[in-house]
Amino acid sequence: MSSKPIGVFDSGVGGTSIWKEIQKLLPNEDTIYLADSKNAPYGEKSQEEILQLSIKNTELLLEKGCKLIVVACNTATTNAISNLRAQYKVPFIGIEPAIKPAALQSKSKTVGVLATKGTLASSLFHSTSENHANGIKIIEQEGTGLVPLIESGKVATEETINLLNTYISPMLEQDMDHLVLGCTHYPYLIPTLKSILPDHVKIIDSGEAVARQVKAVLEKKDLLNTSNNSAIHELFTNINPQVLESFVNDVEATLSVQRLDF
Ligand code: DGL
Repeated sequence: MSSKPIGVFDSGVGGTSIWKEIQKLLPNEDTIYLADSKNAPYGEKSQEEILQLSIKNTELLLEKGCKLIVVACNTATTNAISNLRAQYKVPFIGIEPAIKPAALQSKSKTVGVLATKGTLASSLFHSTSENHANGIKIIEQEGTGLVPLIESGKVATEETINLLNTYISPMLEQDMDHLVLGCTHYPYLIPTLKSILPDHVKIIDSGEAVARQVKAVLEKKDLLNTSNNSAIHELFTNINPQVLESFVNDVEATLSVQRLDF
């Protein structure tokens, strides 16, 4: 039993898509969210840079007393989580592109993965992808430019739609019937993606699965918050609180969004 907060970090606002699933499933839990928007996009950085940024975020969450850390970023998970686990005692939950359910369900045997350059280049992504590639064609597509657009709140502008079309069209030409969102920023593009994709193409993202995993680990380690106090959520960004706020203002919970230098 622990009333300490769950820590969550991402390169920016995208990880709030995961944070929302956690908050929905575990409404009693306090949370601290770090949006490292100053350093976004992580996906264009080297593995060493991604690791150093992940360490910086982890240290801050530990200073704030977090009992578990969610790496709400595919790029940081695939490039840094094994080092983080080796270096710190706190449990870490990460997120990786959900290739497995897509590969199992695909009828056309063709699955598209939209993710950052850093995720697609990682060895963790490659080994997961190879494990499920049996008889399945996996089309890897870098989503270059999408994270900066989302970070500036442009989720449904013409520029975003055009860029998405450039990435999606070649995947559709190859008969993709499942599109895996391999970046926690991309769930915010789902309404736009639905307007581009034919009805038979299913979008797969792993936010809910991550939240279930957080719950399972807290239970296993006896760290669930069993009090009936209403939860407190503190969200920090090192750039613009208004932007972060605009991504969480649909959540009915006690939360504060603040600017912090980190
Ligand atoms: N949300 C991060 C992810 O899931 C975005 C990475 C980036 O900043 O490029 O990969």
